[in-house]
Amino acid sequence: MEHSTLCTRCALHSQERGGYSGAQILRHKKMGRVIAVANQKGGVGKTTTAINLASSLAAAEVNTLLVDCDPQSNATSGLGLRKDPQRISTYDVLMGAAWAEEALQLTELEQLWLIPSHKNLIGANLELVEAEQREFRLSHALAPLLERFEFIVLDCPPALDLLTLNALVAANGVLIPMQAEYFALEGVSELLDTVERIRAALNPGLEVEGVVLTMFDERTNLAQQVAEELRKYFGERMCTTTIPRNIRLAEAPSHGKPALIYDVRSRGAESYIRLAKELMDRQVATRKAAAGPVEAA
Ligand SMILES: Nc1ncnc2c1ncn2[C@@H]1O[C@H](COP(=O)(O)OP(=O)(O)OP(=O)(O)O)[C@@H](O)[C@H]1O
Ligand SMILES: [Mg+2]
Repeated sequence: MEHSTLCTRCALHSQERGGYSGAQILRHKKMGRVIAVANQKGGVGKTTTAINLASSLAAAEVNTLLVDCDPQSNATSGLGLRKDPQRISTYDVLMGAAWAEEALQLTELEQLWLIPSHKNLIGANLELVEAEQREFRLSHALAPLLERFEFIVLDCPPALDLLTLNALVAANGVLIPMQAEYFALEGVSELLDTVERIRAALNPGLEVEGVVLTMFDERTNLAQQVAEELRKYFGERMCTTTIPRNIRLAEAPSHGKPALIYDVRSRGAESYIRLAKELMDRQVATRKAAAGPVEAA
């Protein structure tokens, strides 16, 4: 029997099409979407984006996993986990010493899980050099979790190293946080070249999920001009949501909390909630288009 005949819960196939819920549609699909948050430039807001995007997705009631792929472990401490060398971490998962499932940590948000990192992850870059299928380690490790999570967010280190490569091979989309500065495009061209090369050789399905402006100050002419240039260049890949510079976003990690728990009414928390909604809406639109004109009607 056709799935659409069987399905009674799915908003796509429901007779009552009155109020479709994006979260419902996303929950329904079988495989989670993996988003790598990457930019080899340091300090552009990757970790802040990874933590607060993942939290906002979880708060929208979709099961979400955040994987800390950076030896700096800022996403791990930012979600309140203390340093613990005994805890199973991304390093063990990449080295094949543990299943990803065994590394899952609960967080303060009911639908958010974390695979934590530890500074020993820096060794993986060297230890994996000789390993077979070294670029596919994370992809293979996460495969058993794809049915369990609607979104898996990967926080990458500030380098185009083997860790970022593993994240880009495991991902369906790369989300690029950028600051609105002169030469912003030049900085990101190396990343875009890498995405092209990975698409050609290792992961043909890799897309640019979006480019998001972080620490954005809309009052300055410079920021406006650079944003305009980037919009021309990236077109619809440019996220409509921009993330303002907001002190609450900078304070929240020192309390071990995502911004929406630390101060849900702050502009920072609100902007990441909007970003999560924008990315979910895009997924829903893509899936409706893929479902064809009859089912999408
Ligand atoms: N929108 C924002 N408003 C205010 N502060 C921010 C914002 N985004 C990030 N920050 C602060 O800027 C610094 C760098 O941010 P973050 O750690 O997210 O960048 P990163 O790209 O992950 O850095 P790295 O390349 O070292 O991993 C942090 O102190 C963070 O708290
Ligand atoms: Mg970081």
